Amino acid sequence: MSISGPLIAWYQVNKRDLPWRHTRDPYAIWLSEVILQQTRVNQGMAYYYRFLELFPTVFDLAAASEDAVLKAWQGLGYYSRARNLHATAKRVAYEMEGVFPASSDGLKTLKGVGDYTAAAIASFSYNECVPVLDGNVQRVVSRIMALEEPIDKPTTKTLMLEVLNEWIDRKHPALFNQAIMEFGALQCTPQKPNCAVCPLKSNCLAYEKGLQSSLPFKAGKTKVTDIWMYYMVAVHDDKVLVRHRMHSGIWKGLYDFPSIDSTAVLSPVEIAQQWKNDRGVNGKWMLGGSPVELEHILSHRRVHAVFLEFICDSAVELEESEQWISLEEFSALGVSRLVDRYIREYSQLLGGME
Ligand code: ADE
Repeated sequence: MSISGPLIAWYQVNKRDLPWRHTRDPYAIWLSEVILQQTRVNQGMAYYYRFLELFPTVFDLAAASEDAVLKAWQGLGYYSRARNLHATAKRVAYEMEGVFPASSDGLKTLKGVGDYTAAAIASFSYNECVPVLDGNVQRVVSRIMALEEPIDKPTTKTLMLEVLNEWIDRKHPALFNQAIMEFGALQCTPQKPNCAVCPLKSNCLAYEKGLQSSLPFKAGKTKVTDIWMYYMVAVHDDKVLVRHRMHSGIWKGLYDFPSIDSTAVLSPVEIAQQWKNDRGVNGKWMLGGSPVELEHILSHRRVHAVFLEFICDSAVELEESEQWISLEEFSALGVSRLVDRYIREYSQLLGGME
């Protein structure tokens, strides 16, 4: 799956006209990125213009007094950034003949230039195919993937970069990077994202599960949210309807049953009706098959799993990830601890399976 097409189409229509988007000069782009780490776009623009007016080239910045640089920076705070900026300007001007390193890796050797800034400069200036991962992009990725892991954990960052490396438009990496950053800033906002008009909603697992407001997770600030999963355990002719979880988080690759997921309690009767309507089922409830509710605690989530057993006496419309398989085959497949516990201890239809 790549989100690149719809993302770039969205960007072409919705992008803001920002001055650093009209240049490929690494000096100007570096200035813009360092300034934008300190402040928002609106205020950042004034500083960007001021720096370029006072110091039009990296030689001018290098030759300026520290006082002049700090004065230009005044109001942005965190003055070590301004001192790093000055030191880097001197290094580029006097040790590199005024030429910024030509790759993301080379740029990272400069003081104050980390992974994000190096990727931004390399992609925007040289069109190098390297993804940017700032806070806005982290939010977009963690929502599309419904990431269960805290985004500030190093392994999560590695995972997000791997995904971005797959998604990035290899012919237009700069465009893709600008687009995903802008998308995070304007559309996939921290509070109340407007998912109704989102061009990526069909790709977004957070949207599918109603988790967009609780993502991304941050370590330390972990808040446990409740989720209800209404599992449909359908049996027909000694076969059970099984779902292969292709995309979502910790259960990716495991097998379970089709479910309707919700952030609020739903009544089993409503759920059964919805299931029957959605899937064109005329099935009947198994006699005595009352719903079984199990609680399962994950790192950030309290899952209330409700298993509803169903004997189907007719066809069911299947999703791509679903199939009917024999109970014997099912017992050979990997299932989550939750599903295993249900089958072993509670299921009436599947209870005999080992
Ligand atoms: N924030 C940081 N870098 C940015 C950029 N290039 N465009 C818009 N916002 C940004």
